[in-house]
Amino acid sequence: MRIKNLLMSEEVADKIQQAVEFPRGKDVWLPDCEGPKLQPFRPFGHTAIEWVRQINEGRQAFVWKVRIDGVFYALKLHGFPHIGWLRPSAPVERMREKIHHEDSFYRECRAYGRLQEVGLEDLVVRCHGYVLLTPQQEKEVHELSYEELDSDGEELDPLKPRPGSDRLPVRGIVKEWVEEGTVHFDPRKIRQLNNDLKTINSVGIIVHDIKELNYMGGKLVDFNDAWTIPYHEVTAWQKGVAYREPSVDRMTDPSFFDAMIDAWNENGGRPRIWFRNIRSLEYYRPDDKGMARLRKRASGTPKIVLKGWPDPFSYDWKATQKARQKTRASPAGRANAGVKPRRQSERVGPQQEPRATKGKVLQQKTRPRKK
Ligand SMILES: Nc1ncnc2c1ncn2[C@@H]1O[C@H](COP(=O)(O)OP(=O)(O)OP(=O)(O)O)[C@@H](O)[C@H]1O
Ligand SMILES: [Mg+2]
Repeated sequence: MRIKNLLMSEEVADKIQQAVEFPRGKDVWLPDCEGPKLQPFRPFGHTAIEWVRQINEGRQAFVWKVRIDGVFYALKLHGFPHIGWLRPSAPVERMREKIHHEDSFYRECRAYGRLQEVGLEDLVVRCHGYVLLTPQQEKEVHELSYEELDSDGEELDPLKPRPGSDRLPVRGIVKEWVEEGTVHFDPRKIRQLNNDLKTINSVGIIVHDIKELNYMGGKLVDFNDAWTIPYHEVTAWQKGVAYREPSVDRMTDPSFFDAMIDAWNENGGRPRIWFRNIRSLEYYRPDDKGMARLRKRASGTPKIVLKGWPDPFSYDWKATQKARQKTRASPAGRANAGVKPRRQSERVGPQQEPRATKGKVLQQKTRPRKK
């Protein structure tokens, strides 16, 4: 989905505001729906952000290198996508459900929330919580962003000020900053990467966008497209109220993983990688039995079942939540609940730098915005 310049009207902004919460400066975990949630980066008060450099202009989000209290972070900014996707004429409850499950910001919140609740946050590039930009911060970042035009000369900028934007903040996910020059994808660690992905699937997260560019320092960094169980499309199907199977299936990630390896080999990557989850017709050795098994379904179509690969759809998320509630209720759990998060300076080590000049911008924008 390509983000076009938003055609947001005050009415749509109204409706989104009715549907979802924007708790700036409060200790509210998001999203406000069943399943995992992400904590605010700063539960109380204002987060002062120094904009260092824009990293990309992505499909759904913009990544910035920022500095907060002297520590570098990657801040991934999400605007609201095209209103056609939001179906603004639908009842507000349906719109709420859709936004909470399908909007890229909430998808990241839910995936990181799950990884944190099961203690797997170190398997991926670490997330420190969400922020909601103030109108002033939004203005600053808009002025500093480089301008992108689509083929019709239309501006592609999901963060551009628009009707209603003062009421709908740009939302950001604060992540550990991974230094440039780090090896992002190491072909010699392919089995480890695959095992990590298997573990992520085993806790009910389908990443859905497995590619080399989404690895940083050997860890996954991008959860824009992730489905985290309970996911509305899967729940509806499991309850028998949906007319079709979910559009992403339980084997999506291992197949995308294989496609990533194919791309590596085809692009001349060395060493060439032979490992595959599902045996390919081109890359296999006669003695390699592969992992894939084909089973006939009642309908006659073969279904791929991967030996040893977990079924993310059947993850028991209620059991995890119950266990967490119990821990919180126990004396030890209550004691831990009162433990303050570590100080920012302790969270990310080596990237600290002395505070720079008073100005917010540490480095000039790459391409000046046209007036
Ligand atoms: N934590 C990080 N530290 C350093 N760089 C990062 C970090 N997170 C993301 N980046 C850089 O930003 C790019 C885009 O990040 P990400 O994949 O999360 O966003 P996206 O919206 O999916 O963008 P794209 O469509 O370009 O993949 C990454 O490929 C990487 O170069
Ligand atoms: Mg990406």
